Amino acid sequence: MSTFQAPKGTYDLTPPRSATFLAVREAISAPLRDSGYGYIETPGFENVELFARGVGESTDIVTKEMYTLTTKGGDQLALRPEGTASVLRAALEANLHKAGNLPVKLWYSGSYYRYERPQAGRYRHFSQVGAEAIGTEDPALDAELIILADQAYRSLGLRRFRILLNSLGDKECRPVYREALQTFLRDLDLDEETRRRIEINPLRVLDDKRADVQKQLTDAPKLRDYLCDACKAYHEEVRALLTAAGVAFEDDEKLVRGLDYYTRTTFEFVHDGLGSQSAVGGGGRYDGLSEMIGGPELPSVGWALGVDRTVLALEAESVELDLPATTSVYAVPLGEEARRVLFGVVTELRRAGIAADFAFGGRGLKGAMKSANRSGARYTLVAGERDLAEGVVQLKDMESGEQSAVPLAEAAAELAKRLG
Ligand code: HAM
Repeated sequence: MSTFQAPKGTYDLTPPRSATFLAVREAISAPLRDSGYGYIETPGFENVELFARGVGESTDIVTKEMYTLTTKGGDQLALRPEGTASVLRAALEANLHKAGNLPVKLWYSGSYYRYERPQAGRYRHFSQVGAEAIGTEDPALDAELIILADQAYRSLGLRRFRILLNSLGDKECRPVYREALQTFLRDLDLDEETRRRIEINPLRVLDDKRADVQKQLTDAPKLRDYLCDACKAYHEEVRALLTAAGVAFEDDEKLVRGLDYYTRTTFEFVHDGLGSQSAVGGGGRYDGLSEMIGGPELPSVGWALGVDRTVLALEAESVELDLPATTSVYAVPLGEEARRVLFGVVTELRRAGIAADFAFGGRGLKGAMKSANRSGARYTLVAGERDLAEGVVQLKDMESGEQSAVPLAEAAAELAKRLG
């Protein structure tokens, strides 16, 4: 170990576990790429005001969890705590919405930073794959995104996840509900901080995990009873499309989410094997966000799935991903001349697209064969002085244990044939 360790709330991804992370990112993005979503990448930091306005001044993310910094030039920046505000900012900046092709469908993958209290499944540096469909109000788009996330999780072999679904209303009906809720909450027996929250973000009070608070909320007005006809019809259509697609969901009136930009459809993917940090992904519609950050009216919807928690969910379900072997052929030279010759064969194999590795460092047969085994290679190539004198290499099938001498000049072609 060195003098240094990974900072609190972070961890390093190292082989072999890191291969699972790559496979998860791949599995989540594959259905998006097949459905018209284009890849977008934005900077790891943004002007702090983007998140303050976008994610919401009253959210935990903005008030407590942002990593902020002032540059030497005096700019106020924040490491990105989430992707939606950045992606929308970038889409507007590039005028993607003006190309006459709405919705603008984008996907992304990257690191996000939140100064949270670390615990299992909750980190200060974590990884998301996300999708945003910008500029269109259509229940089929909300349904598409939920169906694609469901497809991604199923393709990984996950089964013990559930989809929670809610509608948060729109700018017509939510303010009416908000006021009714505030009137109700103001009469309850609550601590100072929660009282403050009633005035800033009353819906978040519904999300309070404390039993004594929950007990008082039993008779709280329900958003469902306040949804306007347009929101109701929209939500019913999303539900119908999901049902028609065979995607099961649970209606969850308490689902408010921790970011302020949501309108109408909101959803969360929760996994039952993860304890308190059970949300493996979440998202929803954010019809007003573009205007909040100075853009035109662009109703949009999206989600982000947490890669770290998805890996934990796989582990909780004991799902072993079928990861392709990274090395197909492992070459073991015995002696200087063999080293030069086999290194040439390995280079030739790699150029032919065959994954090959080599026993570096002039090690003995025993140690080198151990590495060959550990590499998971299907074949090993072994050559010593006598083999070279005869113009052959020993080709060993690591599955059957069979070994045969193959003419050196034909080794690469023979391996290509056997590996298909
Ligand atoms: P979010 O619910 O804040 O939504 O994060 C999405 C997912 O990221 C969570 O469900 C979780 O799996 C993962 N995640 C969040 N915080 C942490 C953490 N501290 N440690 C580990 N994993 C974490 C958003 O970020 C929205 N931008 C999603 C969205 C996209 N809405 C619309 N479009």
